[in-house]
Amino acid sequence: MHSHHLEQRAEIGVIGGSGLYALLDQVTEITVGTPYGAPSDSLFLGEIAGRSVAFLPRHGRGHKLPPHRINYRANLWALHALGVRQVVAPCAVGGLRPEYGPGTLLVPDQFVDRTSGRVQTFYDGLPLPDGTVPEVVHVSAADPYCPVGRAAALAAARDQDWPPMDGGTLVVIEGPRFSTRAESRWFTANGWSVVGMTGHPEAVLARELGLCYTSLALVTDLDAGVETGEGVTHAEVLAVFARNVDRLRGVLFKAVEALPATRDCICSHALDGVATGLPGF
Ligand code: ADE
Repeated sequence: MHSHHLEQRAEIGVIGGSGLYALLDQVTEITVGTPYGAPSDSLFLGEIAGRSVAFLPRHGRGHKLPPHRINYRANLWALHALGVRQVVAPCAVGGLRPEYGPGTLLVPDQFVDRTSGRVQTFYDGLPLPDGTVPEVVHVSAADPYCPVGRAAALAAARDQDWPPMDGGTLVVIEGPRFSTRAESRWFTANGWSVVGMTGHPEAVLARELGLCYTSLALVTDLDAGVETGEGVTHAEVLAVFARNVDRLRGVLFKAVEALPATRDCICSHALDGVATGLPGF
């Protein structure tokens, strides 16, 4: 059932968003099965500055999967099974303030979940295909992103002359439709910064496996409440992402290089003293 290819290892995972379907030229493509089904695509193993990296296109190559149909559990499980302990996750977002226009890079420190019906836990009490039953586990999500990963990403962006917004709240909507103007104005009135469709449950599933997770939110559009025109289109999102993908790759490389080889952050201690009941823990 499992084809974990345990001879294939990686320390750092990158989950590419809309418009980032490949990261490295020199890669080994592998298929990784999980107790939760198949990840979005093959995983691509390569190296950045001497660090082993596993890249996974979140929507699959060719953008086959809409945000609500992504198997987030399989994606995070596959990375963890390869040995990944730190994840950097770019995503396309809409800006909720006029000053967060297209091309803004924001490293969020909070999110708000406005999704519905997504499986958002490994600890659901249901048996896995091998018969093991996970324990009941409640992880803290007070600070959902890795502080060390955030610092590395912020420094990397500054280093690449792309001054990032340090912190902010990513509101994650169910999609696949974009927001109404009323929803968008409400998000802004609540003080939230950017809006996307994939940040949840990705971040909390990473935390449930004790992984570090850093979100790199690239603003591709002003959301409907800020925008005076027709509102957002998917074509616009992809076009702006494409214009920024080279410098985003540059930031990713620098951030990966700057991640510490050993961890002592809140994420690394998320499961201290916890019997997860999950295989391989
Ligand atoms: N992804 C990119 N732009 C977005 C927007 N305006 N709303 C939700 N997700 C997005």
